[in-house]
Amino acid sequence: MKRTVEPKVLYFGTPVVLISSLNPDGTTNLAPMSSAWWLGYTAMLGMGTSAQTVKNLVERPEIVLNLIDPDMVAALDRIALLTGSREMSDAKRARGYRYEPDKFAAAGLTREPSELSDLHSVVESPINLEGRIEAINEIGGPDSHLCSLEMKVERVRVREDLLMSNDRYIDPLRWDPLIMKFTEYFAGGSPAYASSLARGWQMPPMPIAVGSGD
Ligand SMILES: Cc1cc2nc3c(=O)[nH]c(=O)nc-3n(C[C@H](O)[C@H](O)[C@H](O)COP(=O)(O)O)c2cc1C
Repeated sequence: MKRTVEPKVLYFGTPVVLISSLNPDGTTNLAPMSSAWWLGYTAMLGMGTSAQTVKNLVERPEIVLNLIDPDMVAALDRIALLTGSREMSDAKRARGYRYEPDKFAAAGLTREPSELSDLHSVVESPINLEGRIEAINEIGGPDSHLCSLEMKVERVRVREDLLMSNDRYIDPLRWDPLIMKFTEYFAGGSPAYASSLARGWQMPPMPIAVGSGD
């Protein structure tokens, strides 16, 4: 038997990514997101338009995608409910968001220069994808405040132990992306950490114990 339902979210499981984008003052903003997929050397990203990241990318197309290893989950969760934008929607405020201009410091992550732009990449990320936004389109209608961003990947930097066969492949057995499934974190198919995003969204708690920084 199946039932026709209207779930609050349709987040079936996608990799968590930290986006580096350039703030107006030249500093790097970091933003966790997970509506991301790749086709060839194009990355498609889905973001709410109120994010500082989108405001930055509309003006300055340089971008780095820092992919997330499960070892980084505590650091990532520390900035789950932070925004680089001083203005915030009521919905975001109600979910517990706060303004934070330095998310590297807030997360406890380390900066490194990028090769193609003035952006900082994340040292702890085993994979950094540098490139540019080539198109931004509204999605879901004018009231959704959502957009898709099309990124051209121009530089791929990968930790050596994840590489196989003449550096042309990333080893799928060794690369274990942190996955966000219905606002909860998963690694290797198992729950990985207590998710602040899930708390913000008031998701029903999972009936198992998972670690957290609390
Ligand atoms: C694990 C995780 C996944 C997220 N995925 C997305 C996403 O795919 N799209 C989006 O717009 N926001 C997503 N968010 C929320 C953003 O992080 C949030 O909008 C934040 O304000 C962005 O930072 P910024 O305002 O400094 O750009 C996610 C948050 C977390 C913790």
